[in-house]
Amino acid sequence: MNFPNLRPRRLRQSAALRALVRETELSVSHLVQPYFVRPGRNIRKPIKSMPGQFQFSIDQLVREAEQAYWLGVPAVILFGLPERKDAKASGAYAANGIVPQAVRALKKAVPELLVITDVCLCEYTSHGHCGVVRDGKVLNDPTLTLLAKSAVAHANAGADIIAPSDMMDGRVAAIRAALDKAGHTDTPIMSYAAKFASAFYGPFREAAESPPQFGDRKTYQMDFANANEALREVALDIAEGADIVMVKPGLPYLDLVWRVKEKFGYPVAVYNVSGEYAMLKAAAGNGWLDEKQAVLEMLTSFRRAGADIILTYWATTTAKWLK
Ligand code: PBG
Repeated sequence: MNFPNLRPRRLRQSAALRALVRETELSVSHLVQPYFVRPGRNIRKPIKSMPGQFQFSIDQLVREAEQAYWLGVPAVILFGLPERKDAKASGAYAANGIVPQAVRALKKAVPELLVITDVCLCEYTSHGHCGVVRDGKVLNDPTLTLLAKSAVAHANAGADIIAPSDMMDGRVAAIRAALDKAGHTDTPIMSYAAKFASAFYGPFREAAESPPQFGDRKTYQMDFANANEALREVALDIAEGADIVMVKPGLPYLDLVWRVKEKFGYPVAVYNVSGEYAMLKAAAGNGWLDEKQAVLEMLTSFRRAGADIILTYWATTTAKWLK
């Protein structure tokens, strides 16, 4: 059978007909809103390279998160900016660090909102790397202890999901063991499993004040040319106890979202990162793209590729659009 018997346009004739056969649904229940939280009171500091995004003090973060929750956003992920940075990343695992404080405030104000915490050292180290540095090298094994302490500090404060983003080898196992030992056997780990050394993190590093002070992250984050290696990374994290695996960035890596979902059938998250946000916002700001239409198309493409969870700076805005 072929044309004229087959006419795919028959099912595209009206909005109702198209909706009837639509394969992929985008709903707010899959979206996670990232927030940057800093010390102080009454602070909403705009992030220049990410129009519409802010560094919030905890009181303002709570206000924002309450709105997000009432719009239907089920989860947020927190990135902390500590009072001060040092070589040991002390702020990353302080029991009363910026993230534990924010978690407690959020869980008190909106108990049902899921609070995910990003576990990494780069926001807390004076050198801006994601691990312990000695003689210009980022050391793997000594970093694991600090990541595990950080995860436990977050879970003790009430974090619902722990999300390690450092890309050290063995961190999921180390964090799982530490969480279990501290009594947090039910706290899931969402690992940034296939995380690439990407130019698309540029705006985030302004937002989190975390650019590496020397070199780059290529000795720990993945080479963007590699897909089989990404699948091996995901397999390792699952073997170590990851409950959800993430592909990051999103838009240039949809092939991997698909392959990870196909191969493992695990809950898959995708991070629609800061650079993806910045470029679309810039185009929309110039009147070159319709922001709403472009974002809804992009977010739907993540779902079509197989993502269950989408971390996106548009989560709250999308919740308004979908109302
Ligand atoms: C911390 C971390 C980064 C991002 C999430 N967690 C930055 C990096 O690895 O340099 C990037 C998120 C974004 O760009 O939106 N390691």
